[in-house]
Amino acid sequence: VTVRRVATEVDLPALVALDAEVFGTDAWSERSWRAELDPATRHVEVLLGDDGGLLAYVVVRAVADVADLQRIATAPSARGGGLARGLLDAALAAARARGCVRMLLEVEATNTAARRLYVRAGFEAISRRRGYYGPGRDALVLQLSW
Ligand SMILES: CC(C)(COP(=O)(O)OP(=O)(O)OC[C@H]1O[C@@H](n2cnc3c(N)ncnc32)[C@H](O)[C@@H]1OP(=O)(O)O)[C@@H](O)C(=O)NCCC(=O)NCCS
Repeated sequence: VTVRRVATEVDLPALVALDAEVFGTDAWSERSWRAELDPATRHVEVLLGDDGGLLAYVVVRAVADVADLQRIATAPSARGGGLARGLLDAALAAARARGCVRMLLEVEATNTAARRLYVRAGFEAISRRRGYYGPGRDALVLQLSW
């Protein structure tokens, strides 16, 4: 990783492309991504490699004292190197700096990699939302308070 910074409009094409690669039919449209880049309510941070390519990103939405982790993803070729953990820590720091006192997120119950990432960072399950991702696909709601 050579750069970690807050995302801007120049990152849009790369964000849309990596999001589509990672999330497939659940990916956000370019229009949604544009809305996500509003610094008034969102904190989007990116990690770029030596060649300037996008390696990972995180999206947090902060409303009053609660921050929602909306998305975190690492490019398949860059996984397992601590990138998501670093971005999650940065997202938590940004939420704190905005005056939030807790972070909430939904994660698919079967997503073991993401669940371990969150639990290692201190998140705890507070409820289960049945069918949140479609029939038979439950979400766990995780929370970290500070
Ligand atoms: C989940 C994801 C973001 C992890 O990214 P990453 O950069 O590879 O993660 P890191 O290398 O920072 O790993 C951090 C922790 O996550 C957990 N983890 C990551 N990959 C894992 C895997 N394949 N299996 C089990 N645990 C895993 C581990 O606990 C790891 O810490 P440890 O190695 O000290 O035990 C990545 O797999 C991804 O992009 N998945 C698809 C998108 C997604 O599901 N996002 C979450 C929902 S929005």
